[in-house]
Amino acid sequence: MKGTLFSFINLYKYSYPFFKNIAFSLDAERAHEFTIHSMKMAGRFLPDQKDDERFHLKAMGLNFSNPVGLAAGLDKNGEAISFMTHLPFGFVEIGTVTPKPQEGNDKPRLFRYPSEESLRNRMGFNNFGSDIVLKNLKAGNRRGKIVGVNLGKNKVTSNDDAPKDYSTLYRDFAPSADYLVINVSSPNTPGLRDLLKDAGLRQIFEAVDAERKKCSKPLLVKVSPDMALEELSSVVGLVNEYKLDGIIATNTTIMKERGEGGVSGKLLTQKARATREFLLKEIKNSHSNAELIGVGGISGFEDLMDFWRAGGRLAQIYSAFVFQGPGVLFDIEEHLDMEFKKRGTKTFEEFLDSVKK
Ligand SMILES: Cc1cc2nc3c(=O)[nH]c(=O)nc-3n(C[C@H](O)[C@H](O)[C@H](O)COP(=O)(O)O)c2cc1C
Repeated sequence: MKGTLFSFINLYKYSYPFFKNIAFSLDAERAHEFTIHSMKMAGRFLPDQKDDERFHLKAMGLNFSNPVGLAAGLDKNGEAISFMTHLPFGFVEIGTVTPKPQEGNDKPRLFRYPSEESLRNRMGFNNFGSDIVLKNLKAGNRRGKIVGVNLGKNKVTSNDDAPKDYSTLYRDFAPSADYLVINVSSPNTPGLRDLLKDAGLRQIFEAVDAERKKCSKPLLVKVSPDMALEELSSVVGLVNEYKLDGIIATNTTIMKERGEGGVSGKLLTQKARATREFLLKEIKNSHSNAELIGVGGISGFEDLMDFWRAGGRLAQIYSAFVFQGPGVLFDIEEHLDMEFKKRGTKTFEEFLDSVKK
């Protein structure tokens, strides 16, 4: 690692513990707001970083600058795009955005488990609504990186009317987004996960399909780690039938003993990993070209290696970024660099082939 990147590595690595001390002394949601605000302010002044061409990867017809992206929910309103794309994320997903602005659930609704590097949230799709998020998306400096948008229905929209929310959002965001995600897997909107069942999902895919014919962008669906295997198989079937481009696995998990909401981070690792491995097999067995973006309890290079060995390619992180800061991205790059040298691989595809053997 060289040039400006080297100085930024040091800056982030050494300043994050200090920043984290302050942020973790605040209530979790206030810390989050403070962080997003700081990122929004700083983002526009920060330079582009030179990326490492060996880690480039083509998927869903898009060129990713590396395989590790930011998961949805951290920058729900697309306010920090310029900051996130300055960091060595290979791609950034904003949202969940709903058609109309909504407040989300009552506070407190975000909780930390620091010793377990895990979070629990029952936010409930709080966001500024599609008009403002679309403006932010257009204004953000993407620095040539992939920016996806995660779509959700409003709480006041009934499940019967949900297809309209998703098709309207697709129509509005598709021209400006690199990819879109149908999110029906959050545990924090009452009844939302019912839409993961075959009939609900089919109606949404059907409604969005009409808009996809007018503006075609890669489309994925995000699933829950709490789904039964038959339900996951049925999602793969629908993804193939409607020619979606991929599945994001997984969202947070319900752990009743911890309280309401969805748990993320290390407490989610095993469940999310099992879901991903099952889906990877189903995708392969159905001779599908669908991509599987892995997320959920990926806290460092070893978790990524597990995912790559199982046949995955693109991954996302959220909780690890909260607990470890941007340093986690530099650590991953350093490990990748070492592995490339050890294996004598020159491209990410070559590396994946050598990992799978
Ligand atoms: C506070 C919080 C808010 C989240 N909001 C969203 C969201 O709006 N949409 C979504 O698809 N996922 C959301 N997620 C889920 C993450 O995108 C991710 O799937 C989950 O946290 C598992 O990844 P991790 O273990 O790396 O954190 C949220 C997660 C957290 C912790």
